[in-house]
Amino acid sequence: MKPFYITTPIYYVTDAPHIGHLYTSLAADIMSRYHRLKGDNVWFLTGTDEHGQKIQKKAKENNETPQELADRVVERYRKAWTRYEITYNDFIRTTEERHKTVVVSFVDKLMKSGDIYLGGYEGWYCIPDEAYWTEAQLKDGKCPDCGRPVEWLTEESYFFKMSAYEKRLLEHIEKNPGFIQPESRKNEVLGFIRQGLRDISVSRTTITWGIPMPKDPKATKEHKIYVWFDALSNYVSALGYPNDSKYTTFWPEAIHIVGKDILRFHAVYWPTFLMALGLPLPKRIVAHGWLTDGARKISKSLGNVVDPFALADTYGVDGVRYFLFREFVFGLDGEYTQDLVYARINADLANDYGNCVSRTCSMIIKYLGTSPVEISKALSAHSELKRVAQAAVAAVDGEMEQFAYHKALENLWRAVGEANRHIESNAPWTLAKSQKPEDRERLIEVLVHCREALRMVSVILLAFIPESARKALDTLGGALPDGLAAPVQFAQWGAAGSTMLVKTPTPLFPRLEVPKTK
Ligand code: MSP
Repeated sequence: MKPFYITTPIYYVTDAPHIGHLYTSLAADIMSRYHRLKGDNVWFLTGTDEHGQKIQKKAKENNETPQELADRVVERYRKAWTRYEITYNDFIRTTEERHKTVVVSFVDKLMKSGDIYLGGYEGWYCIPDEAYWTEAQLKDGKCPDCGRPVEWLTEESYFFKMSAYEKRLLEHIEKNPGFIQPESRKNEVLGFIRQGLRDISVSRTTITWGIPMPKDPKATKEHKIYVWFDALSNYVSALGYPNDSKYTTFWPEAIHIVGKDILRFHAVYWPTFLMALGLPLPKRIVAHGWLTDGARKISKSLGNVVDPFALADTYGVDGVRYFLFREFVFGLDGEYTQDLVYARINADLANDYGNCVSRTCSMIIKYLGTSPVEISKALSAHSELKRVAQAAVAAVDGEMEQFAYHKALENLWRAVGEANRHIESNAPWTLAKSQKPEDRERLIEVLVHCREALRMVSVILLAFIPESARKALDTLGGALPDGLAAPVQFAQWGAAGSTMLVKTPTPLFPRLEVPKTK
């Protein structure tokens, strides 16, 4: 079995998840499910980022300890992921011992190799404001915020020698064209590196909520490990680095899915940390765009968040799962509006797909009866529908390889559209009235081809809309048999056998009532 390792960012526990976090986690879930269908050995990791100033500050505002805050918010994440049937294999929290030991061992190793060294932050400092300013930021030599005098201050800090890895990182990105995806974002990263990489500060003396730096007699203050160094290490610590076989199996296959906001940390910081540690780099880093509201990123701080639970209540879990990956191009920003969700769900899911499954099964029962029907002959006949369905299913793998979720779905809906046309143009209701044997044969052929095309599409849809696709397959008499090594093969024409027995359909996607806007 081919190993496949996929990760989401680990989310901050400052607040409950919103539609943006859901989007990334669903992307990873769909990809994981798709690779499981292919028979791959999948490991899907998600989790939470629980240290650092943001969390410390938020906890203080709430009058609770950072750990209490983390323990509370992590449950909101877990609940949301359960509601959306997100099939992660592991959930890491950076406050867990298994993570902290690895982070400390990494820092220790880099301190010994000299890649992490003690130095100082230098700059102008406004004591009352507790703020650092650069020379250029000062106003008439004074604090630009309050106008009071500033002092020249040096703050002790540990630095990571990122500058030493600039050339190697550039070479790696150039030699491995798929390392950063999509291409446009890769160019942004290259542009950033070419401006020159500077050593970065990897410790903080101003926060208490973090993993302590290893003991060092040279240090005059207590340092905590910089939260990004801590957080990025999760992708390795969660695999049980260094001794667990999960690490050896999965790490070389790692694919990180991230939002474009944190691409630099993943495509510059993380690879250079790994180079310094002498560890292999992840295979791919895939950055997606933002869900926006009025062209502004949806985020808690902008106050325009959309709650995953409310979404599921209104549109259904599979409605949301489908919408987000059919409507938007992964990699680009997407403007979220309610109207779009209603339109997509009603047109694509209720009308096109749901209705086609329903009418096909109803006609099979009405015209062919409720006993198993022999279908070998009908299956071997040719039709445009058969051609389109086979082409659609065959194209999916290439689209998924490119993280082009919308194209995979677009392809599948081409087959659904063709199935609907097939019904209209062959009018089974007319064929059923005829007494001629060739019309009877044609009737069976038309219905079998529709059922088969829908069955094939539904096998792939198990990755996207798992519950509905399972229900559709069951109705179509094509439930996945247990123990298939590569279930995706069940999406081949004729793979479900030479007899057909469908069930009485119940609506897969009830049409949503669109609220009237004033
Ligand atoms: N804790 C860091 C990540 C550390 S990974 C080693 C972090 N956390 S976060 O909670 O802010 O999550 C950021 C991620 O959430 C984004 O990269 C993206 O995956 C997702 N999204 C948050 N808002 C989003 C949108 N409005 N649109 C799409 N995705 C967004 O950064």
